[in-house]
Amino acid sequence: MLIPLPAVMVSCAADGFKPNIITISWIGIVNSVPPMLSISVTPQRHSHQIIKKAGEFVVNLTGEDNLRETDFCGNRSGRDYDKFEHLNLTAVPGREISAPMIKECPVNLECKVKQSIVLGSHEMFIAEIVAVHIDKNLIDDKGKPDIDKLKPLVYCTTAQEYRGGLTKLLSRYGKATGKKEK
Ligand SMILES: Cc1cc2nc3c(=O)[nH]c(=O)nc-3n(C[C@H](O)[C@H](O)[C@H](O)COP(=O)(O)O)c2cc1C
Repeated sequence: MLIPLPAVMVSCAADGFKPNIITISWIGIVNSVPPMLSISVTPQRHSHQIIKKAGEFVVNLTGEDNLRETDFCGNRSGRDYDKFEHLNLTAVPGREISAPMIKECPVNLECKVKQSIVLGSHEMFIAEIVAVHIDKNLIDDKGKPDIDKLKPLVYCTTAQEYRGGLTKLLSRYGKATGKKEK
């Protein structure tokens, strides 16, 4: 019932495994200083083994242009497919970690696992974001990602739908608190 959620592609690699990609919606920012996020992965996933072994991963944000790849990586296992090769995705070496980033994604967050908690069905990996990369073509004049260009892809769990069209600017931080105009 938490609607919408991001739909990101998490890339990972470890000795003895081909680099892999898993689509993740159970994700959130959990700390500001140092910047940290969490992802929750079930132990049945091929990627779970890889992340457990490597202790690192890359969160690749998705835009509407990444829809097909996001859905594929969320419905096929790395046990059966080399997802980078099958989807013609470009693996770019990270700056701080060994897991590859996905070049075709607009933003890449390199993450190092700090702790993990088995919650039940999922294991939550809490990780520090150690490097951030943004596609130069998507940066606005303030050096931030331009949301209109990024065109974020979101996932609505209840209806199992991917949605886009997140472009309407309603207000800005701290500016929406005034009296409603009549
Ligand atoms: C939109 C979407 C979101 C998903 N979110 C998660 C998630 O947060 N955690 C998880 O364990 N699996 C999630 N999945 C399922 C995995 O992505 C899927 O089982 C994938 O095929 C696992 O790949 P792997 O076996 O190569 O690791 C999601 C799938 C989709 C389509």
